[in-house]
Amino acid sequence: MKNLKKFFIFLILFSSLKMGYAQNYDESKVGEYLLPELLITENGQTVSTPEQWEKIRRPEILKLFEDHVYGQIPKDFDDIKFKVIKQDKKAMDGKATLKEVAITVTRNRKSVTMNLLMFTPNKVKKPVPMFLVINHRGIKTMDVTRQNKDGFWPAEEVIEAGYGISGFDVIDVSPDDKVKFTEGILDQLYPEQIKMDNGMRGLGAWGWGAARAIDYFEKDKSVDATKIISVGHSRGGKSSLWFGAQDKRVAITVSNESGNSGAALSRRNFGETVDRITTNFPYWFCPNYRQYAGNEDKLPVDQHMLIALIVPRAVYVASAAEDLWADPKGQYLGLKKAQPVFNLYGLETNLPPEMPDVNEQIIRPHMGFHNREGKHNMTPYDWQQFIRFADVYFDRK
Ligand code: GCU
Repeated sequence: MKNLKKFFIFLILFSSLKMGYAQNYDESKVGEYLLPELLITENGQTVSTPEQWEKIRRPEILKLFEDHVYGQIPKDFDDIKFKVIKQDKKAMDGKATLKEVAITVTRNRKSVTMNLLMFTPNKVKKPVPMFLVINHRGIKTMDVTRQNKDGFWPAEEVIEAGYGISGFDVIDVSPDDKVKFTEGILDQLYPEQIKMDNGMRGLGAWGWGAARAIDYFEKDKSVDATKIISVGHSRGGKSSLWFGAQDKRVAITVSNESGNSGAALSRRNFGETVDRITTNFPYWFCPNYRQYAGNEDKLPVDQHMLIALIVPRAVYVASAAEDLWADPKGQYLGLKKAQPVFNLYGLETNLPPEMPDVNEQIIRPHMGFHNREGKHNMTPYDWQQFIRFADVYFDRK
């Protein structure tokens, strides 16, 4: 009996060690890690100009993320149609115009329709910059009647600041579900991707949806499609970064508490790990990613390289002090370690070695960061910081 008990204790300890289940929240136990080289090409050439970065190193890194982490985002389709299914020019007591747009994409005679919701301010002459939210929190957070005002999508405040706000529910392109994630564009439009080890999965599919929203904005005269701000929270933040890295039409990429496989360095052993994320959410990533569970040092990339892919367009990284699972310091370092690429473009970022104090925003050319007090969420406070950053970047105030 006693031996049996001992055996079970051993079994539990052994399996938790093996699976890497023990989460580290102790800074002194993070340990040493060596990041892959950002500015040395696969041929061993040192990158010292934007041209070399754009022609050689950037495509190399993009491909590594495609093959080992997120999978591809296919660009081809046969047809896209936009239909404004609802319009209200007197929304928000006359302050804004509401549009609901059905976007139907066809490939190989199969179609998928996603709905884009958007408000633009009325008291402006010029086309407006547009916030676009990759929304995994459901349509209820973007109530077009404005009966339910959710701080996750604070439309009134954004309109007041002179920006448009929009979003789509990720369920339209790929349900956020281990089993049902193919029931959208994967089954209907890109079934061949499902079989590929570097094929599109959830996070990439959501990015694909954001790209179709920009396809629409390019046709809508009330929107300045050169000033699109992609926003995502947490899993949406991971997707926003991967999308911003791919699609150069995004002017500012915002990642709110995207954590592991988002802005946080994977090699920093703090909070969520590749093992946890690929166990709980395998369908977000391409199948190849799983081999790096408990084996982060073998990853050919780390997340600072994802941020670097967005440069010289702007990147904003937000975190929350109590959200240790997402590793605020690891997210700051993700941004900081991308600096050499900002510097290649002559952008003097000079981030301090340590994270700024809680609730203290840092704005540099072309990057920003804050660590809000409180828990895992996207709040009106976070939005105020995004707006302030966009005002500076677009030189609006
Ligand atoms: C889980 C997951 C995180 C993710 C978060 C969210 O906690 O482990 O990686 O960011 O969900 O999307 O809220």
